[in-house]
Amino acid sequence: MTRTLISGGTVVSPSGRSPFDVLIDGETIATLYAPGQVEAQGVTADRTIDATDKLVIPGGIDVHTHMELPFGGTNASDTFETGTTAAAWGGVTTIVDFAVQNTGGNVIDGLGAWHEKAAGNCAVDYAFHQIVGGVDEESLKAMRYLTEHEGVTSFKLFMAYPGVFYSDDGQILRAMQTAGEVGATIMMHAENGIAIDVLVQQALGRGETDPKYHSSTRPSALEGEATHRAIVLAAVAGNVPLYIVHLSASEALAAVAEARDEGRNVFAETCPQYLYLTVEETLAKPGFEGAKWVCSPPIRSAHDTHPHHADLWKGLRTNDLAIVSTDHCPFCFKDQKELGRGNFSKIPNGMGTVEHRMELLYQGVVSGEITLERWVETCCTTPARMFGMYPQKGIIAPGADGDVVVWDPGEQTHIGIDAKHHMNIDHSSWEGYVVDGKVDTVISRGAVVVEDDTFTGRKGHGRFVKRGLSSYLV
Ligand code: URP
Ligand code: ZN
Ligand code: ZN
Repeated sequence: MTRTLISGGTVVSPSGRSPFDVLIDGETIATLYAPGQVEAQGVTADRTIDATDKLVIPGGIDVHTHMELPFGGTNASDTFETGTTAAAWGGVTTIVDFAVQNTGGNVIDGLGAWHEKAAGNCAVDYAFHQIVGGVDEESLKAMRYLTEHEGVTSFKLFMAYPGVFYSDDGQILRAMQTAGEVGATIMMHAENGIAIDVLVQQALGRGETDPKYHSSTRPSALEGEATHRAIVLAAVAGNVPLYIVHLSASEALAAVAEARDEGRNVFAETCPQYLYLTVEETLAKPGFEGAKWVCSPPIRSAHDTHPHHADLWKGLRTNDLAIVSTDHCPFCFKDQKELGRGNFSKIPNGMGTVEHRMELLYQGVVSGEITLERWVETCCTTPARMFGMYPQKGIIAPGADGDVVVWDPGEQTHIGIDAKHHMNIDHSSWEGYVVDGKVDTVISRGAVVVEDDTFTGRKGHGRFVKRGLSSYLV
């Protein structure tokens, strides 16, 4: 068993920062030593990583990825191998991907198919949520089974995408009631898909076919409305844990904040694209280039009546937004995004960010939007707590998995297709971004998987993580 000592760094947790040397014994964190204790106690290690002037943080956890997702007539372009390798490059040591039950399909089979895709292929650890694309007696029974036996304790439903994953309010209520019985969490894609489809058809009828109309036909009010409706349904079902995914809009955040002020089990995440990007800089680029940024909910306009970016940063500070995930769902421009040339509604929805979440959010620390501790909390610790992986994951403490990132705040990272780019996409949604801070060394369950700008891990190292229930329920 290899003993690895990370020496001389500053360990950051949600509750503070302190100088500690961290000993990882085999796959597990063994001890945190105050400065001088290692020498005084004669502690030995097989290898020592010098973290002087660097931060030592828990491995990042991205709780929203879609490797190989069949969507929009094609498949998300990252496999579990390429996507988890890119995750490692970005300081992410655990992903939670979404197994899929297609409408008309079977939940247990869907989960089995996802295990087959991932097993033996992942460079870092992985877990699953389950998409329920058809609420009926069989899928409700399967929700119970997955929660109690399979370590899959969260279920995503869609108020968007009619005809694909969409559930109506009655189906949502039934799934929430079942989740409530077993303590599982309902994750909601909260956009009013029925109304959106009307707006989409009307826009296409007017000849508005460019990528930018993807955003104007999915107005933020319809995200706010759906979020509010989901919150009401969860209340009617009995304060069932509800987690709003990829929240992009001020109106949706206001609905979450109101529910949380009432003490409800309502939580939400946002993603870097909703904190940084505007329609004007992305979807509205000339020609078809904007297709690269088609995702749902859409990127919002800088000229919207609500200051979405500012509100979302505030939400991160107040904990109305608990987590930053990526909704990593990459599609190449060539042959994939191009499916929607001449009709924006046929552009596969999704962007690739799994490699850059830690880097992009660290900019929030640099610019003073969030503290260092909050960065760690929203990207590492809360994801573990919210989705039943704590204290195995998400914290540097004795007994936890040896998932650690050494972060260099004195360096910069250049993001782009010819710079840092390891995701299997032919473009970068973050092309040209130069950010402060750099992933220096990444350790996954005691194994160094990235160091010296080199991937030293291997496919198959990553293990399935059976999850428990959320730690946040009241
Ligand atoms: O555009 C997105 N978000 N694609 C992935 C599927 C989803 O809704 O999360
Ligand atoms: Zn979604
Ligand atoms: Zn998603």
